[in-house]
Amino acid sequence: MTNFVENSAFSENFNFKVNGKAVTIKSSPVKRLADLLRDNLGLIGTKIGCNAGDCGACTVLLDQEPVCSCLVPVAQVEGREIITVEGLAEGKSLTDLQQSFQKHGAVQCGFCTPAMLLSGSALLEKTPQPTRQEIKDSLGGILCRCTGYQNIISAVLGVGNVKQASTPELGKAVGARLHKKDGFSKLTGRDLFGADFNPQEFLHLRAIRSPYFSARFKFASFEGLKARYPGLVAIFTAKDIPGRNSFGVNPTIKDQPVFAEQIVRYQGDPVCALVGDQETIQQIQDDEIPIEWEILSEVCGIDAAKAEGAPLIHGKGSQNLIAKMLVKRGEALGPIFETAVAVAADSLETGFVEHAYIEPEAGYARPLQGRIEIVATTQTPYMDRSEIADILGIEKSKVRVKPTACGGGFGGKLDLSLQPMIAVAAWILQQPVCCIYSRQESMMASTKRHPAQIKARFACDEQGKLSAVEFHADYNSGAYASWGPTVATRVPIHATGPYKVPHVKTSAHAYYTNETPAGAFRGFGTPQAALIHEALMDDLASKVGMDRLEFRLLNALAAGDVTATGQKLEASAGLQDCLRSLRTDWRNALGRTEEFNGVNNRLRRGVGVACMWYGIGNTAMDNPSDMEVGISKEGKITLYSGALDIGQGSNTVMVQICADALGVEVSRISLITGDTDLTMDAGKTSASRQTFVSGNAARLAGLDLKQQLIQRVGTDRGSLEELSPNAKGDVLTGHGYFNPPTTPLDENGQGTPYATYGFAAQIAEVEVDKELGTVQVLSIVAAHDVGRAINPTLVEGQIHGGVTQGIGFALLEEFFPGKNINLHDYLIPTMGEVPPIKTILIEDQEPNGPYGAKGVGEPALIPTAPAILSGIKHATGARIRQIPATPERVLRAINAIENE
Ligand code: FES
Repeated sequence: MTNFVENSAFSENFNFKVNGKAVTIKSSPVKRLADLLRDNLGLIGTKIGCNAGDCGACTVLLDQEPVCSCLVPVAQVEGREIITVEGLAEGKSLTDLQQSFQKHGAVQCGFCTPAMLLSGSALLEKTPQPTRQEIKDSLGGILCRCTGYQNIISAVLGVGNVKQASTPELGKAVGARLHKKDGFSKLTGRDLFGADFNPQEFLHLRAIRSPYFSARFKFASFEGLKARYPGLVAIFTAKDIPGRNSFGVNPTIKDQPVFAEQIVRYQGDPVCALVGDQETIQQIQDDEIPIEWEILSEVCGIDAAKAEGAPLIHGKGSQNLIAKMLVKRGEALGPIFETAVAVAADSLETGFVEHAYIEPEAGYARPLQGRIEIVATTQTPYMDRSEIADILGIEKSKVRVKPTACGGGFGGKLDLSLQPMIAVAAWILQQPVCCIYSRQESMMASTKRHPAQIKARFACDEQGKLSAVEFHADYNSGAYASWGPTVATRVPIHATGPYKVPHVKTSAHAYYTNETPAGAFRGFGTPQAALIHEALMDDLASKVGMDRLEFRLLNALAAGDVTATGQKLEASAGLQDCLRSLRTDWRNALGRTEEFNGVNNRLRRGVGVACMWYGIGNTAMDNPSDMEVGISKEGKITLYSGALDIGQGSNTVMVQICADALGVEVSRISLITGDTDLTMDAGKTSASRQTFVSGNAARLAGLDLKQQLIQRVGTDRGSLEELSPNAKGDVLTGHGYFNPPTTPLDENGQGTPYATYGFAAQIAEVEVDKELGTVQVLSIVAAHDVGRAINPTLVEGQIHGGVTQGIGFALLEEFFPGKNINLHDYLIPTMGEVPPIKTILIEDQEPNGPYGAKGVGEPALIPTAPAILSGIKHATGARIRQIPATPERVLRAINAIENE
C-alpha cells in the first residue's frame, strides 16, 4: 500500500487500485485523474494532449473501460481499478499487442501510443479477433498525427502473429525492417517527452499573450499584482531580456521578440511572463495583468498586406514584402503561349493549416554552474542553442540543449516556442523554471502552414509535350518572417512540377500580416504550389486528348534532364518508374469508377492522379551534418547523433547505416542523440534531410572508425586497452561530415539548389455526394522514389502519415487565427476517415546518398491533396479553387459548372 498526501485545504482521501496496486491518496476531488496519475504517482506514460477529451492521448482503463483521464475527476475513481500503459508490460517483456505495434511500425513519435495500446487491449479482451471496423470504432477517438493509423490497425489485427524479430545478417542492416531503436521506451510509456518531469521541482511560467491582432500597449505597475499573489515570484517583460530581444530561423532576419515591445503584431504575441508556483500561475487571470491597450488597425490576409498604403507591420521599408524569388529560363513566354496548341490557366487559394502534433510544447530550463540547460521538445537543438545564447547575451558554450522525445513536429517545432522565456527566467532567477503550453496556447502561438494565393498557366504542343510555364504565388507569413523567405525561395524552383519545361518564369513572394506566424510545415510551400501545377496537367491532358497519367509520364523529369534552375539531374529521378508502377491500379480504379457512375447519379466517383518532386535538404546553401561514433576500451560502440528523431525514425536509421559502414551488428551500437554537449551539429530535422545528409555523416563516421580499427589490427598497438579514453569514455572516435553539393542561385534562379530530389506519384479514388458536397476518399496508392529504403517499415510509415495529413489538407483543415484554437473545432483526420493506403517503393538509388537513400518525410504529403482534387474534378467536373474542399465549397463548385 502506498500513501500519498496532497497539500490542499479541500483534499480528502481516495482509495483505488492502479496497475494492480492499492493506493490511498489525498487529493482534491475535482482534480483531473490524468494530473493525479502524472504528478502524484509519476505515471508519465499517460499523456496530456488537450485536457478536453478531444485527442484521447490520456486514455487509461477504468474498470477495463477506456476513458479520457483528463475528463475524470478523482472523486470518480474511489474503489475502482485503473490500468495505465505502465501496467501492460512486465519487466522487459512486452505484451503481444506491444510486440505487434513494434513489428508493424505502429509507433512513430509514440505520444499517442499508450492510449492506442490501452484501447486496443480493452478491445482484444472483449473481442480477441476484431474486424477492421471494430478496431476503428474502438480506437477511433484517439488522434494520431504521425502514422496515418494504417499500421496501428494492422498491429491490432495481427496481434498474436508476431514472430521474434530476426537479426539481419552482418552488413545487411540497411534495407531491413528493423524495429525502432527507441520502440521499447515508447511502447512502455517510459520515453520522456517535454512535459515529463516532476512539476513540483520547478517554478512555473505562463506567458501573457495579446488578445489583439494589432495593438500598442503599456504596463502599469505590477506591485499590486505581486502583493495580491505572494506565490508570484517574478514578472518578465522585454526590458528584462539580458541579450537580444529577438529571434528567428532566418540567419539575417531576427524579427520575432521574446516579449513584444510596445506593439503586438498578432493575437498570441507574448507581452510578459508570470513565474511562480504552479497554483498561483494558473490562478491569475489575464485581465488582472495591468496593461493598457490601444487597438490599431489590423492587416489580415495577403490582399490587405499588399494594398496601397497598408500599415507596415514592422514599420520599416515601403511595403509588407519579406522576401521574393524568381526563376527564369528559356525564351520570352508571350509568343510561346500565343502560339501554343493548348494552354491551361487557373488560380487558387489556401488557408492556414495547423500542425496539430499531439504533444503540446513543453520543457524546462535550469541554471548549471554558470551555464544553462534547456530540456524541451524541439526539432533543432543546435539552432535553439545559438538563439538562446544570443537572447541571454552569453557564449553558445554556456548553453546546453538536451532535447526530450518529440511528440510530433512536422516543421512546427523548428521555431523557438517557450525556450527563450524559460531560459530568461531561469537565468535571471537562477532557479529551475518550466512551462507547459495548453492546447489552446500551442495552437494560438505556434507557426502554421502559409496561406497562399497562386495563379499559373502552362502550355503544351500537339503531342502533349510541355513548352512553357508562368507561375506566381503570394504567401502569407503572418506577423514574423520565420520560414517565409525559405518558402518564397523553394516554391519557384518546384513550381514547374516534376516535369520537363523548357521556357519558365516562376516567382513567389512572402508577406507580413497581423496573423499567426506561418512557418515550416511538411513541404515549405510546395504542397500549395502542387495543387495548381497538377490541376493544370489534368486540363492540358484533356485538351490534347490524353490519359492524365500518360500525359504526366510523357513529361516526367528523368536522369539527364535539365530543371528550371538549369540543374542537370545526373541520377535517381525515378518519377517515370513511379508512374509506370501505378498503371494497373489506375486502370482498375478507372474501370471501377465507370461502373459505379453508370448506376449512380447523386454519388459520383472519380480517380485523380498527381505527382511531385522535392529537393532534399536546405535550398542553395550549406546544410552540413557532423556525426561521431566512438568505441570504448571494452568494445562498447556509441553513435553520437545530433539528428533529432521526431517520430520519423532517424534514431533507427542512423544506427542501421552506421552499423553497415562499421561492419558490426546494429545491436552493438548504443545511441546518444541530440544533446548539444555530447553530439556534434547534425543540423535541423527538416527539409527531409536527415536520412540523406546525416545518414551520410553516420556512414562516413562508421567508415572512419572502421579504418582506424583496421590500422590498429596487426600492429603492436592492436589492443584498445592501452589507449586513453576521452571524456565520453571512448578510446577511438570515427568522424563523419557531409554537406550536400549545392550552389547558390543567380538573379534568374539558376544554379544547383539541391543535391538530389525525391519523386512521387499518387492516385486517389474518391466518392462525392453531389447533394451534400461531402467527399470520401476511398483509397490512395502512393508510389515514391526514395532512392533506397533504409528501413522499409519506417518509410511506409512516413508515407501513410504524409498521405493522411494530405487528406486533412485537401478536405478538412483550416486554421482561423483567434477562432478554432482547439482540437474539437480544428479537425484532423481520425482513424475512421483514413482509407486504405497502398505504398509502392521505387528505389532509384542516389549515388550521393547513404547506400543510395534520399528522403521521404515531406514528399509523402505533397501529391495527396492534388490527387484528391483531381478525383473530385473527375467525379463531378467541378474544379476546386479553394481548399480545404469543405462541403460548402464543393457544392459551390458543382453549382458553378451546372449553371454554366
Ligand atoms: Fe501517434 Fe505520433 S505516433 S501521435
